[in-house]
Amino acid sequence: MSTDPRTGAAPSPAGPLSRVDYGARIPNNVNLAGDRRLQRALEGWQPRFLDWWKQLGPALPTRDVYLRTAVAVGRDGWAHFAHVPMDEYRWGIFLAERDPDRRVGFGRHKGEPAWQEVPGEHRAALMRLIVVQGDTEPASVEQQRALGGTAPSIYDLRNLFQVNVEEGRHLWAMVYLLHAYFGREGREEAEQLLRRSSGDLDAPRILGAFNEETTDWLQFFMFTCFTDRDGKYQLGTLKESAFDPLARTCQFMLKEEAHHMFVGTTGVQRVLERTAELMRRHGTADVLPYGGIPLDVVQRYLNLQFSVSMDLFGSEQSANAGTYYSSGLKGRWMEGRRDDDHVLLDATRELRFVAGGRIASRTVPLLGALNLDLRDEYVADCSHGVRRWNQVLAGAGLGERLYLPHEGFNRRVGVYAGHHVTPYGEVVGEQEWRARAAAWLPTPADRELVASLMVPEYEYGAFASWIAPPRTGINDQPVEFDYVHLAEEGLL
Ligand SMILES: [Fe+2]
Ligand SMILES: [Fe+2]
Repeated sequence: MSTDPRTGAAPSPAGPLSRVDYGARIPNNVNLAGDRRLQRALEGWQPRFLDWWKQLGPALPTRDVYLRTAVAVGRDGWAHFAHVPMDEYRWGIFLAERDPDRRVGFGRHKGEPAWQEVPGEHRAALMRLIVVQGDTEPASVEQQRALGGTAPSIYDLRNLFQVNVEEGRHLWAMVYLLHAYFGREGREEAEQLLRRSSGDLDAPRILGAFNEETTDWLQFFMFTCFTDRDGKYQLGTLKESAFDPLARTCQFMLKEEAHHMFVGTTGVQRVLERTAELMRRHGTADVLPYGGIPLDVVQRYLNLQFSVSMDLFGSEQSANAGTYYSSGLKGRWMEGRRDDDHVLLDATRELRFVAGGRIASRTVPLLGALNLDLRDEYVADCSHGVRRWNQVLAGAGLGERLYLPHEGFNRRVGVYAGHHVTPYGEVVGEQEWRARAAAWLPTPADRELVASLMVPEYEYGAFASWIAPPRTGINDQPVEFDYVHLAEEGLL
């Protein structure tokens, strides 16, 4: 229980076997009914969330969608699948089970019991971390709101909506923490999360990558692959937090997040399957006339989404990141599996940077370079994904391959900002960059080409020309299952 008079009391979790209380207006496993004040505050926020969803959530009118809803947080059977009208989705508050013996795993509080309330000295920093994470969740829903109009299939449409409702739930997850542990200021921040909106000139979302509209499905797949994956890694550091409610919240969010990356990874893979098939059949890389997306366009989309996602990790060297670590607010990816002292006062690592027109390297204290530590884990995960995509091309007997651009390519944040680094890691001058950039980043012509292929395919089991069907459906349903019922005339 929080005893800080500014925050009000937070409910104790109901225990390891707690099912979700579905009788409540807000489904939860945090015994919301046991804290009337908090429950009332969240019930006051709920209609504003629903207004936001109706205004800035998915634009395509639907009757119902085959959606996954969380019904428990245990290892098995945590999700339930059913057709539900989207604005009746039961967004709720679910924290992973509490380990009563959990201890802080790193930093100067290492070995102390995990915190069940927010220490005054870390209040501002923790609230900021939660607000920045929370802001990305509704932002992606806003960015993707128009995509339903050009869905390549009912199967893909359902996956888009699943990602959207879960990002909405992630907003709930962060708003719960703000309301339960940060008092009046937390409630104000929760209001602001609905007032800012993606791309708004006066009140934009906090991070740059979340203010660009997702214009087409290729970009959506790249976004869920590379930008949602950034989210996975950020959540992975917060899951280690000494502040136990935050750790448990993020642990459960990661469970949902896995599906978002599945959507992206398999989406791109199916684009490649289709492109490879057309290249072979017609003996040309120019598959556009046959309804496919050329490989070089796919590569340019990849280059862009990867580089803007790299920026989300922040500067390679960051005193803040070191302070967050030492204070116990944010750990490293898989902290428990790291074979070191988890304090890092003497640890060092290599940092690459640009000097004298080339990429150089020097040794720096690890504590000051934790953003880079996390980013390296992310890059390794992304390269694994690209290797799997290349198996599609190899399997089709093609010599072409996709690649991840160099970490310095197209960067606006950190040591590479202000330099011009090619996807292959050469440092070039501004003029050369300008002359060659059209080969590396999506051009207006690329976007037009992709847009021309984005015609909706709403017939069950049918797929747009530019993407192969998946091998299996969702939750053991067939691929041609009626995953979405569009709103019919008269039912609008
Ligand atoms: Fe999320
Ligand atoms: Fe996500």
